[in-house]
Amino acid sequence: MSDNSKIASRLEAWFEQHKRRLPWRETTDPYRIWISEIVLQQTRVAQGLDYYRRFVARFPDVRSLAAADEDEVLKYWEGLGYYSRARNLHAAARQIVSDFDGCFPETYAGIRSLKGVGDYTAAAIASFAFGLPHAVVDGNVYRVLARLFAVDTPIDTAEGKKLFAALAEELLDRRAPALYNQALMELGALQCLPRAPLCGGCPLAFRCEAAASGKAEAFPVKQGKSVVRPRYFNYLVIHAGEDTFIHRRSERDIWRNLYEFVLIESDGELSFEALQQTEAYRALMSGAGQVMYLYPPFKRRHVLSHRIIHATFHTLTTEHVPPALLAYLRVPRKELPHYAFARLTGFYFEALRKGLFPEPPSLFGR
Ligand code: ADE
Ligand code: SF4
Repeated sequence: MSDNSKIASRLEAWFEQHKRRLPWRETTDPYRIWISEIVLQQTRVAQGLDYYRRFVARFPDVRSLAAADEDEVLKYWEGLGYYSRARNLHAAARQIVSDFDGCFPETYAGIRSLKGVGDYTAAAIASFAFGLPHAVVDGNVYRVLARLFAVDTPIDTAEGKKLFAALAEELLDRRAPALYNQALMELGALQCLPRAPLCGGCPLAFRCEAAASGKAEAFPVKQGKSVVRPRYFNYLVIHAGEDTFIHRRSERDIWRNLYEFVLIESDGELSFEALQQTEAYRALMSGAGQVMYLYPPFKRRHVLSHRIIHATFHTLTTEHVPPALLAYLRVPRKELPHYAFARLTGFYFEALRKGLFPEPPSLFGR
């Protein structure tokens, strides 16, 4: 069995066991499938169910929809938003009556020609209602395919759309397009979740590249608003005589194995006064007695590929060495050049060397 047909058979077996029973899955009526797909573009399945049921109860077929007043159609759409979609439904029903003699078109091209029907909806109707071999590509499908093959081409580019469409067509089970398409979408909805996908029970985990490298959430890649998460680093450069305190980063995070000064990360930008009120600061500095600021804070914004770090370096000296600092490495400041620091800390050293801290020390209480 080829890899592709193994994917399809596992997926389809999983679907038979786990699928939700939904009214539009119990029919091959293209009209009802069409209505369900347009409703589901607006809303989640739970809320969409009610709208779908009321809509097809009042407008059970193309002719009843075409004969209705637009106002009444909009009334049945009320609360879903995107009213142009309801207007398009109504216009397309009239189009079917005038151009197709009231019979729902049975070819992909015919379906695709209807007002408001794009590639995705046309493939859904063509496969679900007529068993035609067209692969659906919606948000769920992008996610599953991107993860299965660890595709890092952004999905919001022309190149990405082409690539995913081709990949979806290649994987499609041509003997059972309706079953296969539904199954792939359902896997995305129930198993391959945007956050914290349930790879453990996933029928495709056996050949999923993203799951194998533990990076499922990194896919799919989007180019547009690649979310740049800000982080706020408060460094304490604590002078004790000729020495200072550093530690080596070991967490699964940026800058693993590099050295840095005592760090308190916060959820937002903090003044030194606000920093002193935090739990982390108190835990670290308890027993320090008087804390004296040696230089004004040094601020630096540092941009990494998916992060912006807002860093502030506080250069301090304390009356006593607080016990919590025993967990850090105490090193003579003149030996700091022997340790590998991230570039960000390099900017602090540079500022020190250039004498950018001209202001006289100021005093802070404990
Ligand atoms: N979302 C879009 N189309 C769907 C379908 N046919 N079943 C479940 N969720 C969907
Ligand atoms: Fe998605 Fe995980 Fe399944 Fe891969 S193994 S398809 S990431 S749920």
